[in-house]
Amino acid sequence: MATQELKHNRWSSKFVFILAATGAAVGLGNIWKFPYEVASNGGSAFVITYIICLACLGIPLLIAEMLLGRLGRANPIATLSKLAKENNTSQVWAALGWLNIITLICVLSFYSVVAGWSIKYFIASCMGVFVNIDNDSLNLFWQNTVANPVEIISYHALFMLLTIAVVIRGVNRGIETANKILMPLLFIFLLILVGYSYTTPGFEKGWNFLFEFRYQDINFDTIIKAFGQTCFTLAIGAGCMLVYGSYVTDETNLGETSYIIALVNLLVAVLIGLAIFPLIFSYGLTPIGGPGLIFQTIPIAFAKMKFGHLFGSLFFALILFAAWTSSISMAEPVVIMLVEKHNLTRAKAGMITGTFTWLLGILSALSFNVWQDVHILGYNNFFTLITDVTTDFMLPIGILGFAIFSGWKVRPEAIISGLNFKKQTTRKIWLFLIKYPAPIAVLSMLIWHGS
Ligand code: ALA
Repeated sequence: MATQELKHNRWSSKFVFILAATGAAVGLGNIWKFPYEVASNGGSAFVITYIICLACLGIPLLIAEMLLGRLGRANPIATLSKLAKENNTSQVWAALGWLNIITLICVLSFYSVVAGWSIKYFIASCMGVFVNIDNDSLNLFWQNTVANPVEIISYHALFMLLTIAVVIRGVNRGIETANKILMPLLFIFLLILVGYSYTTPGFEKGWNFLFEFRYQDINFDTIIKAFGQTCFTLAIGAGCMLVYGSYVTDETNLGETSYIIALVNLLVAVLIGLAIFPLIFSYGLTPIGGPGLIFQTIPIAFAKMKFGHLFGSLFFALILFAAWTSSISMAEPVVIMLVEKHNLTRAKAGMITGTFTWLLGILSALSFNVWQDVHILGYNNFFTLITDVTTDFMLPIGILGFAIFSGWKVRPEAIISGLNFKKQTTRKIWLFLIKYPAPIAVLSMLIWHGS
């Protein structure tokens, strides 16, 4: 085995791999984006569109990214360079690995700022700050939170420290252990919250709001949104799944595991919707989208309910855990790249990654206060610029690159041995989806965002 591969760990079991990959997938995107997209885009009509996108495009793309990782068994840049060489194609493909690393640093930088707010809200909820809070006071709490740069930069630092502390401990001792603890807790908290939500008077209204089939709301925009949500939530296009795939043993069936990851991710998103919307309706609140739903509305519902203090704390802990397991998957490819490329220790690589990403994140943190009126390239502020450019352009370009590379550049023999699908027909269907519909769908999404 090459020295490079020796440094490159393996998951200790298929179960842990599924847990870690699900942890990467389940994140802020499931909590504040999915329920709102469902509610504002035709209820179950959106859910059905999303499931179709997931099955026809999301899962094949997830398999493609993990397959490349397993074939290359290295960080994204080295993997693409190695596979380009093995498949007699241009070394320009290594640039896709660089794009992955830049995208991850950008996404992690703003992700950590938002996740930092959840630490503040978790502490506030545990301390009973939201007990009997009214709308105005909660709004003030939110305004004060984002208006204080020192405080949000400190929470951003704390979250980054939590992420890096796990990653520097390595794949087995760090990433696996964190996911083994955080993911079960996340599921337990989620089930408790849905159970509570079920007993509230607004459950039926919440259910209908989420799942009423409003076909008239479905149009091309909705389809693109459903596809965009599929890509973001599956954490594809930036190399997280490539690196997680590179730790998968040769025996693991990537098709089967991808289905499980996608299904659990969908289930979590739906359950979160069922935990949130009934509460909103039960307490006479209005559903709003984006981070505002979590930070400006939900605490009111908890403020009014019995034991709200406890449920509120569980809710913010759930957000924190979901964000944490996702951010670990974003930091890992950067850290392993520094370890493999520059021969650094994990500790050093982690510190460099954490510090650099934290510094970049400060620009996002300042977008809510001292730099809130600084418009850049037509975007309202730096935070909007970095969130929109990464999710609308950088991630889709990464996905397009992986689809074209795995569908058109990797030799069929490598795909056959790498995929180890039980049935040849499944492999043929996968290859067809990756070669034609997936690139067309991603290109349409890019054009839609660009126009
Ligand atoms: N997949 C992660 C999320 O949905 C990035 O937040």
